[in-house]
Amino acid sequence: MSGFFKSSIGRKVAMALSAFFLMFFLLQHFAINILSVFSPDIFNEVSHFMGTNPLIQYGLQPVLLFGVIFHFVMGFVLELKNRNARKISYAKNKGSANSTWMSRNMIWSGLVILAFFILHFIDFWFPEINTKFIQGDWSGLHEGVDGYRYFHELQEKFLNPVRVGAYVIAFVFLALHLLHGFTSAFQSMGATAGRKKILQNIGIAYSIILPLGFIFIALYHHFNHIH
Ligand code: HEM
Repeated sequence: MSGFFKSSIGRKVAMALSAFFLMFFLLQHFAINILSVFSPDIFNEVSHFMGTNPLIQYGLQPVLLFGVIFHFVMGFVLELKNRNARKISYAKNKGSANSTWMSRNMIWSGLVILAFFILHFIDFWFPEINTKFIQGDWSGLHEGVDGYRYFHELQEKFLNPVRVGAYVIAFVFLALHLLHGFTSAFQSMGATAGRKKILQNIGIAYSIILPLGFIFIALYHHFNHIH
């Protein structure tokens, strides 16, 4: 088994499996965050449940963090291996002639997403860990805020136009990354040529609608807060 994951195809399969897992996470992350647009109360309730449920906190969260780190590390490994292999270049590799811009630049779109993750974790994840695990406050309440604090904290974060701009740029790169990554992951898992067209269409819809949705959430909170 470990031999399989050391082989070139094994690494691609591992990369694809972590990609599927992250694409599923992204869907549920969007489903929860879009609630903040429609109903601050429901968003607060769901956030409190997700943030305090022991199974999610101690079971799923470590798996998610492992998945994120694994995907980044494996991405770099695959890129390095590809670069080394390409030292002996293909006789017929004309870059744009036989591959897309997105597929040749997964490492760059990935690096922008990595930079976004650092910002995003500083914005949301570290403060959560601090409140719950360091200060020991699992109440979800905050002085001066009616009800749970999550919606209020989210609004505060999207006040700053520079942060909103950085998020929007990152979501555009996320779309580019997904546009190639989605179909590529299915191909690594052996998706057959017959299904290629359907997968490509689902991939395009997923890769464009989801990042656009995230952009909408960021802009909505920015403009809805400054009257
Ligand atoms: C406007 C868009 C977004 C908003 C409002 C948002 C909001 C949040 C919030 C509030 C948390 C903290 C959850 C907690 O730990 O209690 C969080 C965590 C996180 N976000 Fe986002 N997010 C957005 C977009 C994204 C995108 C596009 C990605 C991935 C590319 C992402 C990846 C993550 C990850 C990996 C975590 C840590 C997960 C955890 O353990 O909770 N987020 N986000």
